[in-house]
Amino acid sequence: MNDASTPSPRGRILVVDDQRNLRASTAILLRSEGYSVLEAATGEEALMTLSGGGVDLMLTDLKMEPMDGLTLLKKAVEVAPRLQVIMMTAFGSIENAVEAMRQGAYDYITKPFKDRELRYRVERGLEQARLRATVDMFVGEFNERHGLSSLVGRSTAMRELTSRLVRVAQSDATVLVQGESGTGKELVARAVHAHSRRKVKPFVPVNCAAISETLLESELFGHAKGAFTGAVRARRGLVEEADGGTLFIDEVTETAPAFQSKLLRTLQEGEVRRVGESTPVKVDVRIVAATNRDIELEVREKRFRQDLYYRLNVVTLRVPPLRERLEDVPELAEHFVKRANARSPKPKRLSAAAVEHLMGYSFPGNVRELENLVEQAAALAEGEELLPEDFPLRPNTHMEASGAVGATPSVVALDTSTRMPTLAEVVEEAERRAIAQALERHGLDLGRVAEELAVSSTTLWRKMKRLNLRPPGGDHRD
Ligand SMILES: Nc1ncnc2c1ncn2[C@@H]1O[C@H](COP(=O)(O)OP(=O)(O)OP(=O)(O)O)[C@@H](O)[C@H]1O
Ligand SMILES: [Mg+2]
Repeated sequence: MNDASTPSPRGRILVVDDQRNLRASTAILLRSEGYSVLEAATGEEALMTLSGGGVDLMLTDLKMEPMDGLTLLKKAVEVAPRLQVIMMTAFGSIENAVEAMRQGAYDYITKPFKDRELRYRVERGLEQARLRATVDMFVGEFNERHGLSSLVGRSTAMRELTSRLVRVAQSDATVLVQGESGTGKELVARAVHAHSRRKVKPFVPVNCAAISETLLESELFGHAKGAFTGAVRARRGLVEEADGGTLFIDEVTETAPAFQSKLLRTLQEGEVRRVGESTPVKVDVRIVAATNRDIELEVREKRFRQDLYYRLNVVTLRVPPLRERLEDVPELAEHFVKRANARSPKPKRLSAAAVEHLMGYSFPGNVRELENLVEQAAALAEGEELLPEDFPLRPNTHMEASGAVGATPSVVALDTSTRMPTLAEVVEEAERRAIAQALERHGLDLGRVAEELAVSSTTLWRKMKRLNLRPPGGDHRD
């Protein structure tokens, strides 16, 4: 027998048959083709081998004692979910073959078979196994990157949000996602897309707060050649890029009235007009917009067009602040620790005391603040166990005034001249330096800066504002 622990480039096959001669001749043929071949005389033996891992394809007889091929198939896919199975059936027992396929077999082959047919079916099965492994890897990575599998939280509030989200996603309705900063609005917008029929088409985010007004217009709607100085080529806008998919308009209240009317027209007519172009282009996009402001107040105070508000607000998804669902804190904290561990050679674990400490906090910065706290703690803590003192919290501001929506309290300016700097200040200084250096490198390309620093462009924008940093030569507004 072969050693099951070394990977085999051509694929590893397990041949299961209680008839010794048939099993041996099949194995010999496959070995001569360069495959690594394992053998088993019974279903039980086969399951033992499979549980060791590394088998890509199983070729099994249907009629065996005491465990038959169908039972083995059922148990095998539990032990090895990615395994491809080819069932060997006797001539004339096509119903059994069909039943095997229904139970998850990839293919079947009728005995007696020609060498050529066996080679062909095995190679095809292995090809399928490779494809499946690749797809699984991409799907896993994609979900991880886009947080689809990770809307963490089982509080009543989150469960209500998720069930509403899934229902809403299936319609094509425009969605307005409302919630304080850092609650997970972008994650929710991505989940809407992921649960919609548009999921195979692009999800295109645009952050209205991160781009200057003039740039925003041409970014979103595109422009004709020569529409303005520097427009050397015609360019499709993000609305067109999102055709067939979802356009996520983040921080939609941070836009000027002129832009808002253009956006309204796009929504009403399902078409865009590139800047400097007179003929409109038809588009099919679903709009998801988000804001962390009290948008009704913005409407009342005439900073946001009422007609656009009505257009956007067909369905509202409200993401509750973390302080209203503190029962999600343990699970979220665990989630972030796990993520930090995946990147670190020194895995950490949360102490019960630390969880309790965190649950007494009001999280003015919501989930993002928790995420940052955990990342910092994981990076800075000495021991394996994260303790309460590894999570320095700001004084609670929201606890008593619970229910107050909106404004995240600004960071208190501290006089550092007469005392040692606090950890928060040290971190802020480090942030300032990191951002300033990245700005030096990428200049006005804030997308690149955000990517390099692994923060959202909103976070980058907010931090820059708070730290009073500007891109070199940048002329954006405050
Ligand atoms: N329910 C959740 N489960 C797991 N991670 C979450 C959850 N909610 C938020 N996060 C994480 O917290 C961070 C902030 O989320 P997100 O960017 O979606 O918030 P936001 O509401 O769009 O914030 P802002 O208003 O600042 O743009 C992200 O890193 C996100 O992955
Ligand atoms: Mg956001």
